[in-house]
Amino acid sequence: MTTLLTGGTGFVGHSLVHRLDHVSVTSRNSTKARIQLGDSVEHVIQWDPAIEPLKLSPGPAFDSVVNLMGESIAEGRWTAEKKARIRNSRVEGTQKLVAALVESGNLPRVFVSASAIGIYGNCGEATVDESHRHGTGFLTDVCEDWESATEPLSKLGVRVVHLRIGIVLGDQGGALEKLKPLFRWCLGGPLGSGTQWMGWIHVQDLVAMILWSIKNDSVSGAVNATAPNPVRNSEFTKALAKSVGRPAILPVPRFALRLALGEFAESLFFSQRVVPAVALANGFDFLFPDIQTAIDAADQS
Ligand SMILES: NC(=O)c1ccc[n+]([C@@H]2O[C@H](COP(=O)([O-])OP(=O)(O)OC[C@H]3O[C@@H](n4cnc5c(N)ncnc54)[C@H](OP(=O)(O)O)[C@@H]3O)[C@@H](O)[C@H]2O)c1
Repeated sequence: MTTLLTGGTGFVGHSLVHRLDHVSVTSRNSTKARIQLGDSVEHVIQWDPAIEPLKLSPGPAFDSVVNLMGESIAEGRWTAEKKARIRNSRVEGTQKLVAALVESGNLPRVFVSASAIGIYGNCGEATVDESHRHGTGFLTDVCEDWESATEPLSKLGVRVVHLRIGIVLGDQGGALEKLKPLFRWCLGGPLGSGTQWMGWIHVQDLVAMILWSIKNDSVSGAVNATAPNPVRNSEFTKALAKSVGRPAILPVPRFALRLALGEFAESLFFSQRVVPAVALANGFDFLFPDIQTAIDAADQS
């Protein structure tokens, strides 16, 4: 089984490459990627989607393509330039990747592409499965266009899976890497009222879901990549505080987060009670279905 992977040097991609057999990775910095990923990858392809089309060398088709690239949404303030990079790295990046596959004439059997639960916007108390209406605003627009970018492949009969990923928990990156030190210094606390729902997934379950999506021919379209038990922000805070053995009582006010983080802060107050209906209906087994074991296990991930 051969795989072409974008975003292989990232938090999720780094955990995934070790689980794939014959993997080629694209990176904007192939030298750094080769050092970082070592023997886990067969080829590293130098490619910066912001400046060039992707050129695939002639040869047999990849069996699968996994598309995880994207400018971080949590690092840095959302200036106009940053928002353009968030959007273009996903939408134009995916369009260029898809165009390269179509032009090569060698189509993969399956294309697994990252998307995000941000597509649903702010959903209050509603339970959100894959059929839930989409929200409005920047993140929804980006996710919709990111998903639409794969249409040429679906039209040519390639099975496409859009993993709508929740907050990924693991110690080597993502939210926990940033939050754990704050909580250890007793600086963590519920965000605002703490009543907003959070859709989350342990990185090991996300990697397993990507592999399962590749292998499982009956899975296509939107798939919520979240654990079956979403939690309120207050419950997440309690579990994280317990895990680091510190109290977390003081709420972090909304205006302070807005001052510190800018526009991105607003998305932290979205309530998203997302459930993985498609994954459960198709027999996916979660290793970490509940929040405390997932956060505790993140130390070993
Ligand atoms: N982590 C989460 O909580 C979460 C939640 C929802 C959705 N997702 C989505 O899942 C995917 C993987 O997440 P992750 O946490 O592993 O991401 P990550 O650690 O930020 O890594 C993403 C990779 O994308 C590439 N990249 C970064 N900026 C880029 C740009 N401007 N243009 C092109 N490529 C760029 C980088 O590879 P090179 O430097 O090697 O090029 C990087 O290693 C992303 O698409 C993300 O949006 C993640």
